Amino acid sequence: MCFIMIYNKKMKEPEIKENPFHQIYIDLTSTCNLNCPWCCNRQHVIPDISLNRFEEICKTLPERTEMRFAGGEPALHPKLLDLMDIAKGYGHFLTLITNTVEFNDIEFCKKVKTHGPVVVSLSMDSLTSDSTKLNALENLVDTGFHRLVLTATLTGENTDIIQWLRELYEYYKPVKYIHFRNIINEDNALTFSEMVDQVAEIFPEWENPHRIVRDGKEHNGKKCCGYCQLRQITPDLRMLILDARRASNCHLRGYINNKDMTVNTFFNEIRGRS
Ligand SMILES: C[S@@+](CC[C@H](N)C(=O)[O-])C[C@H]1O[C@@H](n2cnc3c(N)ncnc32)[C@H](O)[C@@H]1O
Ligand code: SF4
Repeated sequence: MCFIMIYNKKMKEPEIKENPFHQIYIDLTSTCNLNCPWCCNRQHVIPDISLNRFEEICKTLPERTEMRFAGGEPALHPKLLDLMDIAKGYGHFLTLITNTVEFNDIEFCKKVKTHGPVVVSLSMDSLTSDSTKLNALENLVDTGFHRLVLTATLTGENTDIIQWLRELYEYYKPVKYIHFRNIINEDNALTFSEMVDQVAEIFPEWENPHRIVRDGKEHNGKKCCGYCQLRQITPDLRMLILDARRASNCHLRGYINNKDMTVNTFFNEIRGRS
């Protein structure tokens, strides 16, 4: 009995007030307007986060934190702008991860900009047309967003998306960050070095970067798992390559479970979902 109690205590995830993570993901809603076949969140059904619960989280986090709004499609949360205001009020930094659809409405872009600062991260592999994604990117640029992130999941069969992101980076100055990863719930997903080979063919700067920001060996004095690398590949472009399947114990990225107010490592949390 005593052993079981000690064991349970040891296995308990940290509470939000003890959050050790630099970046923290939070699902605002499980509602989505797409149905991407590889999506890790299709079975993950949660109620929309309430303003009160969100404020409690913002207040409880021990330090100003980089919060990443995810889901479902976070842009569909009916109180998105209020949630942004609350986070900002507590000094947290915001990134909104989106499938791009809602940003086809320029008025929506303007509202999000007004309630910023926020970094918008566009999932360029989401299951909508390329013209929808491109229109969202153009709207965000026209609205005055100066720092945009483009992300894509690499499957081994979609090398064309790497080339497309290269063209978008060369054309749109606010594209400052590109993030590639593999499919988290796919046993035969590309390995880290396979992704590097594919990316370096189209972005040869990867091999001879301006600066290595995170080398996958250690970060802030903590040993890293080796499955992500962040490089400033040109003076104005950062690139992340991440093996999401193997980075389950990443100490940088956490996930807030708003039901019991605990935090877990992000990839550990989502790997079990499909
Ligand atoms: C779950 S979505 C939620 C936010 C938003 N709906 C979107 O698509 O950007 C967050 C990110 O996770 C990525 N993602 C979804 N399923 C994945 C999987 N099985 N493996 C790796 N990344 C995945 C998506 O491509 C997206 O960039
Ligand atoms: S990846 Fe994003 S857009 Fe696609 S189904 Fe999942 S939550 Fe929706």
